[in-house]
Amino acid sequence: EFCFAQDQIIASVNASIHPMDIGLIRGYGIFDFFRTSNYKPLFLSDYLDRFIRSAEKTYLPLQYSKAELEKIILELIDKNDLANGGIRMVLSGGVSENHFSPTDGSLFIFNEDLDFPSNVKYENGIKLLPIEHVRYIADIKTTNYAFPVWHSKIWKSEGAEDVLYHLNGYISESSRSNIFVIKDGEIATPDKDILHGITRKRVLELAGNVAIRPIGYDELLNADEAFITSTTKKILPVSQIGTKQIGSGKVGEKTLELIKKFAEMEQ
Ligand code: PDD
Repeated sequence: EFCFAQDQIIASVNASIHPMDIGLIRGYGIFDFFRTSNYKPLFLSDYLDRFIRSAEKTYLPLQYSKAELEKIILELIDKNDLANGGIRMVLSGGVSENHFSPTDGSLFIFNEDLDFPSNVKYENGIKLLPIEHVRYIADIKTTNYAFPVWHSKIWKSEGAEDVLYHLNGYISESSRSNIFVIKDGEIATPDKDILHGITRKRVLELAGNVAIRPIGYDELLNADEAFITSTTKKILPVSQIGTKQIGSGKVGEKTLELIKKFAEMEQ
């Protein structure tokens, strides 16, 4: 298996990073993650734009243009025969004299197996465990997920699929997904303190007329339907927040409609 590291496509076993890279010692770096569908990198242009934007916003010099990144990715898909898989791009903060200031970091591009949620979860929905929390510099896809990785022990022990972040009465997102709520026919999603997901963007296009506005935590609890979106979960219904059932407790009609439309888009 091949990956991109040390500025070239090499065997994945030979990829390495300096132990004093602030990606490792300070958790300072950015990444992005997309998948292939029948050898095609789905919505690649959007993911590359976000990756480049994350680098700019974190003051990390990215030595590759969008076209160069695309070329490397297509070569990797070919070399690894990647029909349906995930691809992760990571740009580390680099090794610096003061062990704090970003420098030229290392770029890694490598593929990962995908593990979509089971069909049962798409039919019955999943449980999210609510927690009062907000992600900082939320619109940058930083590699720092220390809080949810640490907290996952708790939500897993409570039978939840993931977590729901809310603060001061307003919801934002899940640890690796965006959230939508549906009430009386209106589809709504928050805009503040979130990573602007590419799947979220597709849903906004598919559904049309989505209200982008602050959403109260109570509003979610009283919604008819809710779902989360991400590259690895697609559109996944939510049927429980903590101990509270959402809607019918099964996938809702409007959510199902969007799941079907999204499946057509992936072809
Ligand atoms: N996570 N919000 C956060 C905090 C995320 O990390 C992600 C993606 C999303 C959804 O974005 P998208 O639809 O572009 O995947 C929202 C990826 C899947 C990850 O952590 O690997």
